[in-house]
Amino acid sequence: MDHRFSSLLLYLKKLYLLVGKKVFTIYILGLVSGCLYFLTDLAIAFNFQVFLSFLGLADPSIVKVPDWVPQKSLNFAVAFLLVIGFLRAILQWIQTFMQGAAVESFKHQIRSRLLKWTFGLDVPSTQDTILFFNERTNSASIAVSGLHTMAMKATTSLLLGLELFWLAPKTSLYVVVFIGIASLPMRMIDKKISKLGGGIKTEWDHINSRLLVSLKNYLLLRIYGLVKNEEQSINDSLGKYLARILSVFNFNGLKFSTTQYMGLVLVCLVSLLKGPNNEMASGVIASYLFLLLRFLQSLSDVAASTTTINMYWGQMQDFAELCYKKFEVNQDTNGQRQLSRISNPVGWRVQNVSFSYPGVEGQPLFHNFDLNIPAANTLVIHGPSGSGKSTLLNILLGILKPQRGKIIATLGNNEFEVNQIMAELLEAVGYVGAESFIIEGTIRENLLYGVNRKTTEDEIIRALQMAECDFVFGFPDGLNHMLSEHGTGLSAGQAQRLSLVRALLREPKILVLDEATANLDYETELRLVKTLEAIKTNMTILAVTHRPALLRLADIQLRFPLNSNPL
Ligand SMILES: Nc1ncnc2c1ncn2[C@@H]1O[C@H](COP(=O)(O)OP(=O)(O)OP(=O)(O)O)[C@@H](O)[C@H]1O
Ligand SMILES: [Mg+2]
Repeated sequence: MDHRFSSLLLYLKKLYLLVGKKVFTIYILGLVSGCLYFLTDLAIAFNFQVFLSFLGLADPSIVKVPDWVPQKSLNFAVAFLLVIGFLRAILQWIQTFMQGAAVESFKHQIRSRLLKWTFGLDVPSTQDTILFFNERTNSASIAVSGLHTMAMKATTSLLLGLELFWLAPKTSLYVVVFIGIASLPMRMIDKKISKLGGGIKTEWDHINSRLLVSLKNYLLLRIYGLVKNEEQSINDSLGKYLARILSVFNFNGLKFSTTQYMGLVLVCLVSLLKGPNNEMASGVIASYLFLLLRFLQSLSDVAASTTTINMYWGQMQDFAELCYKKFEVNQDTNGQRQLSRISNPVGWRVQNVSFSYPGVEGQPLFHNFDLNIPAANTLVIHGPSGSGKSTLLNILLGILKPQRGKIIATLGNNEFEVNQIMAELLEAVGYVGAESFIIEGTIRENLLYGVNRKTTEDEIIRALQMAECDFVFGFPDGLNHMLSEHGTGLSAGQAQRLSLVRALLREPKILVLDEATANLDYETELRLVKTLEAIKTNMTILAVTHRPALLRLADIQLRFPLNSNPL
């Protein structure tokens, strides 16, 4: 018993972690409202006897009601019913609201935690995040709603059951035995639904990832004439998904209708028997039957909510893993920012580093890799796609952690392991990638988004000129020109040059250029290279390029893949 109690506590604790404080509180309120609902049922049931006697349908001598039910007049009985009905309506209102609140609070908290988890990871997966953020959250919230219904209805039915026992113990014993036997086939149906529910999730994941792959490769599919095949294949999976869902609804319907019918049979039996040995007075039978009906209704609601929970519990459990384990993953990426600012170019010493991505440990991208980058030098990395260039940049900055080896950053005469000073390092970086990060807002807002120091208008204008961004002065509202989320209205090259301005405004001591000139024409690129040549002594530049122009800047060149001969 003790063991059972502690495992119940553990279960509740896990549930608390999973659904969050707000939803858990709503569950508790659900229990309370279940109790109150029971009380209104009770009042109506006994008032029923009073009604019957005042209407002349029952002999007043057989009416047996507790003292708190008034027996004054028909009008009084009506008023009593109206008051109870009003309280019940308010209770229903609150319950409906709480049901919605539980679902939406759960979604909100799980999505915030997902965001924290995603942005706390070294290597977030777009596909998983989107899947969890949308479909999985919605499905799991159905289970949350089911749990809420269960909490309310189970409380009501438990109390109603006890009340029935109190009114007529023998009759109620028969009722319980009957329900016990009748629930055996229900259990089998539940098992079936639970199994089908697990499959729903897998089926959906399959459809989702296939669609994502197809969309990513849409151009290829067009060229190879495979669009129709792909559509067909996804449609087939959708068909299977539909079949599975329909099968769940089929079993669900069977369960629901059987419960209802069993209920009816039970009511008939109780009425016929009038209680074994005429246990109840006729008046009490009226209340008993009303409460029995309410009991069966609540029980069938509990049964329906177990179906819902069984169906969606798998989706919920995926979050359980997130809540208990993955949320603990490094939350310190951007750490405390009170560290002192790096004011000189940074150097690196990479010693004996081995690195591989999770899941492909057998094929390390770097194996016993060494590299020396003196401060204020420019390292230009070039080599084929997928050879590990961007990975190396991430390793140098401490964002990706190698499985073996040391990465030392040199600041003047001081040396630090990069992961100890990652926050400081990142603070000192200006970054331009092949994709530009443009948000909805004015050009000024875009340029200053992520700039960690005070800037003057003059500085912005100077940086714009340095980065060959004279096009900004051509807009009628200049720096106040509005940009949309994806930078519509700008060419890829213009967006990239704005990214360079943003990087320069941070006054970086480390400038990271990952294919930063990929979208520029040769002349613009050359002019930029000249600008960089003029300012490069003041910073360490780490550049990745497929194109020759940036090679002019290089103090050190690194050619990938690493096992080929260096230049
Ligand atoms: N998050 C990841 N998980 C697993 N493998 C990854 C991940 N990111 C990159 N890789 C793999 O590591 C290899 C190196 O990737 P990286 O992005 O460093 O290449 P790259 O040289 O920068 O290529 P590109 O020139 O195309 O940008 C690739 O084979 C890539 O598939
Ligand atoms: Mg890359």
